[in-house]
Amino acid sequence: MSDKSNPYDAPDTGHVWDESLRELTNQPPKWWMLGFHVSWILVLAYGLIYPMWPMVNTHTKGMTGWTSIKEYKEDLQAIEAKRAKYEDQLPGKSAAAILADDELSNYVVRSAKVLFGDNCAACHGTGGQGNPGFPVLADDDWLFGGSIDKIEESIINGRNGMMPAHGNQLSDTEANELADAVAAGNPSSTPLFQQKGCFACHGMEGTGNPMLGAPDLTDSIWRFAAKDQRESIKYTIVHGVNDPQDPQTRPAEMPKFGGTKLNDTDIKKLAVYVHKLGGGQ
Ligand code: HEC
Ligand code: HEC
Repeated sequence: MSDKSNPYDAPDTGHVWDESLRELTNQPPKWWMLGFHVSWILVLAYGLIYPMWPMVNTHTKGMTGWTSIKEYKEDLQAIEAKRAKYEDQLPGKSAAAILADDELSNYVVRSAKVLFGDNCAACHGTGGQGNPGFPVLADDDWLFGGSIDKIEESIINGRNGMMPAHGNQLSDTEANELADAVAAGNPSSTPLFQQKGCFACHGMEGTGNPMLGAPDLTDSIWRFAAKDQRESIKYTIVHGVNDPQDPQTRPAEMPKFGGTKLNDTDIKKLAVYVHKLGGGQ
């Protein structure tokens, strides 16, 4: 290998290693050069159109004046303009009137979902499916009434259903007899139901009274649902609900959202939302 000439016949740098290795100065391939030129032209063009080059206290603005915050604000304006069409109508309408308007109530149901999640779901569950001790809102069974007005009233003023503890007026046998009759769905089958005054709130047949929040005891839908429903019923009879005299009473407090907590429009939205969940009458 003593021949030091360049076997490729291409220009080289004149450096030689290991007697025959030469460093050639070939041009890079055409496709590579083309890619290179296209890239820098694109970079320059981008810099002309969009904000790009940093300067001392600012940056170049680009010919279009585009900024991401401006785009975001424009999008937001477009959404608010769409909402305004509905939102502007809400203050002048009652919850019942909103409910009667299909387009408006569809909008309200969509926009109240977040309100419900923020204010109500902790107790009533995300879909209004209820929690132990907190009533289901997604069925058509109501303590205080499922009309749109009653629902709105529940939200504005809160609710505190009251049932006195009956433990001190009932022997254990009597409490068991009442619990059995209620669990069987036929509370008035025992004379105790009248004698002990249960009918005054729950009605002669035990079908309830929404004025007092006294539930229907014949429909097998339980406000205080439990694995052992018979025991749970007996517990309610003995300790009552919200009875300040009995430390073991069942708590039942629906907080008041009227006044400072939520504004009128939000309350109307929620009333419509809850009504649609439960399909009340
Ligand atoms: C002063 C009215 C009043 C009287 C009297 C009364 N209740 Fe009640 N009762 C209520 C109210 C109100 C509730 C629901 C409380 C709530 O959920 O806020 C209730 C709840 C119950 C429940 C729970 C039902 C469920 O779905 O879990 C049972 C059971 C019950 N009452 C049985 C009786 C029996 C039996 C008597 C008679 C010994 C009686 N009540 C007397 C008002 C009354
Ligand atoms: C701190 C827990 C809690 C929160 C938060 C709460 N609720 Fe309630 N809600 C209750 C309880 C407990 C009752 C049952 C009251 C009773 O039994 O007297 C109730 C009852 C109701 C009722 C009456 C149900 C019926 O059967 O008549 C409606 C309607 C209602 N809530 C809607 C809402 C809405 C809408 C929100 C959100 C703005 C909300 N609640 C937030 C605990 C809560």
